[in-house]
Amino acid sequence: MKLWSGRFQKETDALVNDFNSSISFDQRMYREDIQGSLAHAQMLGDTGVIQKADAAAIAEGLKSLLSDIEAGKIEFSADNEDIHMNLEALLTARIGDAGKRLHTARSRNDQVAVDLRLYLRREIAEIRQMLLELLQVLAKTAAQHQTTVMPGYTHLQRAQPITLAQHLLAYGSMFSRDVTRLEDVKKRMNLCPLGSGALAGTTYPIDRFETASLLGFDGPMANSLDGVSDRDYVIELLSALSLVMMHLSRFSEEIILWCSWEFKFIELDDAYSTGSSIMPQKKNPDVAELVRGKTGRVYGSLMSLLTTMKSLPLAYNKDMQEDKEPVFDAVDTVKQCLPVFTAMVETMKVLPENMLAAAKRGFINATDCADYLTKKGVPFRDAYKAVGQLVYACTTAGKTLEALTLEEFQAAHPLFDADVYEAIDLQTCVSQRNSYGGPSVAGTTKQLELLNAFLKEREEA
Ligand code: ARG
Repeated sequence: MKLWSGRFQKETDALVNDFNSSISFDQRMYREDIQGSLAHAQMLGDTGVIQKADAAAIAEGLKSLLSDIEAGKIEFSADNEDIHMNLEALLTARIGDAGKRLHTARSRNDQVAVDLRLYLRREIAEIRQMLLELLQVLAKTAAQHQTTVMPGYTHLQRAQPITLAQHLLAYGSMFSRDVTRLEDVKKRMNLCPLGSGALAGTTYPIDRFETASLLGFDGPMANSLDGVSDRDYVIELLSALSLVMMHLSRFSEEIILWCSWEFKFIELDDAYSTGSSIMPQKKNPDVAELVRGKTGRVYGSLMSLLTTMKSLPLAYNKDMQEDKEPVFDAVDTVKQCLPVFTAMVETMKVLPENMLAAAKRGFINATDCADYLTKKGVPFRDAYKAVGQLVYACTTAGKTLEALTLEEFQAAHPLFDADVYEAIDLQTCVSQRNSYGGPSVAGTTKQLELLNAFLKEREEA
């Protein structure tokens, strides 16, 4: 028999029962549902809406239910539609009439909203921690490679010399922003919808501030209609998670390139690569590829919920039950990707000699060569042109800039002198790029300082 059976003369059709039910996926919020009910019952007892004895019986019943669920002793049923009604029915079967008083001054609409906020708040904390662990690994690896020269790219063409530290610290900045984005989402999410009722609040003398504080929220949500119909927080989280995946995916793409024979900048650890069933020589970067591939699922979840919400009138609509599967899938996906990605990066072997060899081809010191002339007073555009001509001559002769004779340099511009070789040496090119945020040792040391301070602040908090 349905909890809401009073006004119905017929049983729900079996197809509708299954179609309508969300228990198969919302049962993962059982802890939060119990947590919310405990707070609600306590507040009902404290405000005199129900007897204190009933509140105590409810609390005891809920706690025993929780331990039975955790012990695997409870089976949920689609007949009771969702986790909220399943738990209420189970509670009432245990403690009788007191259980029937729990839903006083409450609706499933504010119940599901509070459950989801509590649930996602916990997941945000876990994902944030995983990001911090990735950042630790990036900081550690970057510190080892402040003088490991590699080509920096634009258009995937060798552009200017950088170091591996500089490249890794770019991801350090991105993932740090992801951490702060999650912190922002959590901050806005941390208001309590409980007490919004079905949509219009309640006539009982409830204390929304008490439940909000019992549940660790910063306060109650200001408007009851908004309380039950807002899913911005889910969308914000999906958007933050999409950016996490975008960053992981870009990094994955580079790892895939870097371990190809064409680059060979790194070698992935055997434990984080896979073989081929037919080609005996293969060692594939499946982990990075899967992370790149799973990015699509998370973007899909974001699009899915944005679309679900786009024309829903206020307040609650059943469409909103469709919020859970996408956000659960996105959270699961990110939690699956982050630790394996971090371990893959931590264990990959860097091949600095291959990075340097690549840096030596492709004229990545051409800008420095032009800057050399410019620093001697030649207007940059003239210097640029002279070096462009030298590069052209080198490409036809199959040489590098540093292989040109001083006479050849001077033929392109008379202000070239013997110190040009030092100026276009790759180590000089990197160490001279000491502008703030740049790849010189001073530049990456400053970035490491900032990153380590960011991590330390969060260890202490
Ligand atoms: N299972 C529903 C959901 O996930 C519960 C909320 C209320 N349902 C209702 N018919 N008012 O959104």
